[in-house]
Amino acid sequence: MASSYTLSLIFLLTFTINAYSSTPSEPDILLTFKSTIHDPMNHLSSWSNTTTAHHCNWTGVTCITATISSLTLQNLNLSGEISPSICQLPNIITLNLADNFFNQPIPLHLSQCSSLNTLNLSNNLIWGTIPDQISQFKSLKFLDLSENHVEGKIPEGVGSLIYLQVLNFGNNLLSGSIPNVIGNFTELTILDFSLNPFLESEIPSDIGKLVKLEQILLQSSGFYGEIPDSIIELKALTIVDLSQNNLTGVLPSRIGNFLEKLVAFDVSQNNLVGSFPDGICESTRLTSLSLHTNSFNGTVPNTSVANCLNLERLELQNNGFYGDFPNNLWSLPKIKVIRSENNRFSGQIPDSISVASQLEQVQIDNNSFISKIPHGLGLVRSLYRFSASLNGLYGELPPNFCDSPVMSIINLSHNYITGEIPEVKECKKLVSLSLADNNFIGRIPESLGDLPVLTYLDLSHNNLTGEIPLELQNLKLALFNVSFNRLSGRVPSLLLAGLPALYIQGNPDMCGPGLSNSCPSDNSKQKIGISKLACAVISLALLAGILSLAFGFFVYRRSSIQNLETGIWRSVFFYPIRVSEQDLIMAMDEKASRGSSGALGKVYIVNLPSNELIAVKRMPNFRNQSFKTLKTEVKTLAKIRHKNIVKILGFCHSDDSIFLIYECMEKGSLGDLINKGDFQLSWSIRLKIAVGIAQGLAYLHKDYVPHLLHRDVKSKNVLLDIEFNPKLTDFALDRILGENAFQSSSDSKSGSLCYMAPELGYNKKATEQMDTYGFGVILLELVTGRAAEGTDSSEDSLDVVKWVRRKVNICNGPVQVLDPKISSSCKQEALGMLEIALQCTSVMPEKRPSMSEVVAALQSLGSKTRVHHPEMSV
Ligand SMILES: *[C@@H]1O[C@H](CO)[C@@H](O)[C@H](O)[C@H]1NC(C)=O
Ligand SMILES: *[C@@H]1O[C@H](CO)[C@@H](O)[C@H](O)[C@H]1NC(C)=O
Ligand SMILES: *[C@@H]1O[C@H](CO)[C@@H](O)[C@H](O)[C@H]1NC(C)=O
Ligand SMILES: *[C@@H]1O[C@H](CO)[C@@H](O)[C@H](O)[C@H]1NC(C)=O
Ligand SMILES: *[C@@H]1O[C@H](CO)[C@@H](O)[C@H](O)[C@H]1NC(C)=O
Ligand SMILES: *[C@@H]1O[C@H](CO)[C@@H](O)[C@H](O)[C@H]1NC(C)=O
Ligand SMILES: *[C@@H]1O[C@H](CO)[C@@H](O)[C@H](O)[C@H]1NC(C)=O
Ligand SMILES: *[C@@H]1O[C@H](CO)[C@@H](O)[C@H](O)[C@H]1NC(C)=O
Ligand SMILES: *[C@@H]1O[C@H](CO)[C@@H](O)[C@H](O)[C@H]1NC(C)=O
Ligand SMILES: *[C@@H]1O[C@H](CO)[C@@H](O)[C@H](O)[C@H]1NC(C)=O
Repeated sequence: MASSYTLSLIFLLTFTINAYSSTPSEPDILLTFKSTIHDPMNHLSSWSNTTTAHHCNWTGVTCITATISSLTLQNLNLSGEISPSICQLPNIITLNLADNFFNQPIPLHLSQCSSLNTLNLSNNLIWGTIPDQISQFKSLKFLDLSENHVEGKIPEGVGSLIYLQVLNFGNNLLSGSIPNVIGNFTELTILDFSLNPFLESEIPSDIGKLVKLEQILLQSSGFYGEIPDSIIELKALTIVDLSQNNLTGVLPSRIGNFLEKLVAFDVSQNNLVGSFPDGICESTRLTSLSLHTNSFNGTVPNTSVANCLNLERLELQNNGFYGDFPNNLWSLPKIKVIRSENNRFSGQIPDSISVASQLEQVQIDNNSFISKIPHGLGLVRSLYRFSASLNGLYGELPPNFCDSPVMSIINLSHNYITGEIPEVKECKKLVSLSLADNNFIGRIPESLGDLPVLTYLDLSHNNLTGEIPLELQNLKLALFNVSFNRLSGRVPSLLLAGLPALYIQGNPDMCGPGLSNSCPSDNSKQKIGISKLACAVISLALLAGILSLAFGFFVYRRSSIQNLETGIWRSVFFYPIRVSEQDLIMAMDEKASRGSSGALGKVYIVNLPSNELIAVKRMPNFRNQSFKTLKTEVKTLAKIRHKNIVKILGFCHSDDSIFLIYECMEKGSLGDLINKGDFQLSWSIRLKIAVGIAQGLAYLHKDYVPHLLHRDVKSKNVLLDIEFNPKLTDFALDRILGENAFQSSSDSKSGSLCYMAPELGYNKKATEQMDTYGFGVILLELVTGRAAEGTDSSEDSLDVVKWVRRKVNICNGPVQVLDPKISSSCKQEALGMLEIALQCTSVMPEKRPSMSEVVAALQSLGSKTRVHHPEMSV
């Protein structure tokens, strides 16, 4: 009773004072503040003089004893102007406007807020330089301007902010060097200049004065020079991130001194050198612990103070460190991540690594460790990645090497490990195992077939013997490499059908498709698993049958026996061809592969029993299209009848793969001809090819219903028949794969970058103009005789578009870019084609002609001069 009475008295008093003094009331101040703010989502709807809610209950407002102490308007999509009116709130301590869209210079007028100690403008669109008057914010303790567009030099004025505890200028566009005032920030706990790529500064040497500093975050900026020795004075540090700068020199010699509280230490990707300071993380207690490692139960006796006991992450990768890797680091009680790849560290991995009971990740590839792999490693139950390729590891793999139940990646390739590969039992989460290029002997362990998610298996370049275990057929491998061993016997056929990237060469005693030895037709060699295998093959053979159907009929087949490895195969043929899925699968060895077209799949030339050739494109089935959609889409493409477009004869698909079957063209692809480096086609044939491709594209764009975009126009996708008539292939695959899968596979496809229109970088929506661009690049290949991507030698490394652009603007340039093999009487036509090519490859999409305009232009080139020149051979 009494207290509520007092409270209302205070209300009354405040109200009275506000009413009679000249200062507006707090709600009015808030409303004035709101009036300059744009609030599209209406998050501040509670800020209103018509609501009954007390203003202390308005969105983002916090009060202490009924006066406003804090405004937290974070992530509300606000923009507009930050009005100084807010400083009329007498007791406002915190103003947090982070994660909005305020687009203005640093609001200096907020320095009038005499009580303000926290200003958070992180992640807005604040721009401009930091004025020297930033010094007016003298009372601030927390200043966060991170993730904005603040630029220019940091003025000395910041040195006045002597009460700062947090200074965050991270992720801006600051330049120049850090002024020599850092020593003034004696209260500072967090210093963040990270992600300012234009800074060009040494780490200030008076950093050692910031004795309360806990976090120093300078990563990915322009820091150079040595790490100042004074850093070792910073005994409160928990996080040090100096990665991705240009730091040089050695680590301060007494760095061990400041490691007591350290949790994360990252100096990766610099140019640091030298050996690691002696005795780092050393203490008598740790050494004695490491003696009886296996009985260690996780409790750290607290008898003496030791360094590094809190260290969780140590990242030293990509520097020039050498010398012995400090032994103690391997057995720290809290260590989770040890990365030191690409240095020249030597030393051993001690058995006491078993003490590191939190260890998750070890990456020490490409160093000079000379060590056995200790038994203790297998005792670390939290380890999910161990990669130590390119070192001097030797001895045998301990049988428990893969015992961590969370182990996911093991890479021990390029070492000197001997003995047999132990059976693996525990690591059911193993995804990737590389033991390539060691001295392993004996058989491939059958238990690998029991690892349910194993996807990458590389055992190449060892001395393994015996047959490939049939158990491996259980796996869904994406890569299987056993090349260059001494394996024998037959390649399990379901491994072939499972469609991993398969490397089996270099095993002279092995037989099967793709190898020089074919297997004796039937033998009793494969005893285990034969019944399952036979079942699969027979069911396929039976149901696949042989078809011979009238033109235009669609057939739909489906094997009834579902089998884990092959899945269900369904096929549809649009033309009478005689082929079974099994024929296809068996025919797809690497020898038959023709012109890889990157991530979108490979093309195989398959010789049918009837001696006809077909081309089969194998693509991953992303399964984001139903079978019905898939069938409809392929049908749409198969119905195209145009002399410059390759016929689709049919397709089959399983859960894993889609095979598109095309007619086969005798002369292969235009791209292959050009890439051979000896491109001899006569001018008239070049012109015929250009016109043909243009007609094919114009047909897809305008005449065919539905209108289609090719989306991968390049010379590799232009096939030539015996008379060099061009036919486009691989068209409109987006409709088969689905837009998302198509885009993500073509994003990862690097091989044909220079055919991609520049606007593809920002405009993901496909357009006709993008096809036109790709066509323009083919025209450039035809007139210059140069491969689109350029070759290795210095000037030639330019792609053809850049190369031509560089030359044509100089005097006589256009004539110089022409293929010298084009006879002089055809030069005029060639120059005409060059001009069309330049229009098609214009950087501005709207300047490119349509494909039907291109057809007309190319045809008129020919007709203008054709009459006067008999066909020339080059
Ligand atoms: C509320 O504020 C608006 C302007 O901010 C003013 O026009 C209106 O009269 C006020 N209403 C009341 C009830 O105070
Ligand atoms: C704020 O709202 C809550 C209920 O939503 C109410 O209990 C409280 O009294 C209000 N506070 C003020 C100061 O109006
Ligand atoms: C901000 O705006 C975007 C789109 O304009 C919207 O998707 C998002 O949900 C909004 N966020 C908030 C917190 O209102
Ligand atoms: C500022 O706000 C951001 C976003 O919420 C937050 O991550 C950051 O810690 C805040 N800065 C300070 C100094 O409190
Ligand atoms: C550093 O702080 C002192 C007061 O502690 C002040 O006199 C001096 O001006 C400050 N330096 C700068 C550059 O502002
Ligand atoms: C790093 O420093 C070296 C020598 O000081 C200099 O040559 C090099 O350009 C610098 N690199 C960057 C990325 O700043
Ligand atoms: C750990 O082992 C020590 C001695 O070996 C024992 O005294 C202690 O109780 C054990 N602690 C736990 C949690 O098991
Ligand atoms: C353990 O050591 C810390 C310092 O590292 C100390 O603060 C704490 O009091 C010690 N605890 C015991 C039980 O001795
Ligand atoms: C190994 O590290 C060195 C630097 O120590 C580097 O130059 C080299 O490229 C690295 N090798 C591989 C294969 O990454
Ligand atoms: C492979 O093993 C055989 C027999 O054990 C041995 O003669 C041969 O030298 C080994 N080859 C390599 C490359 O280690």
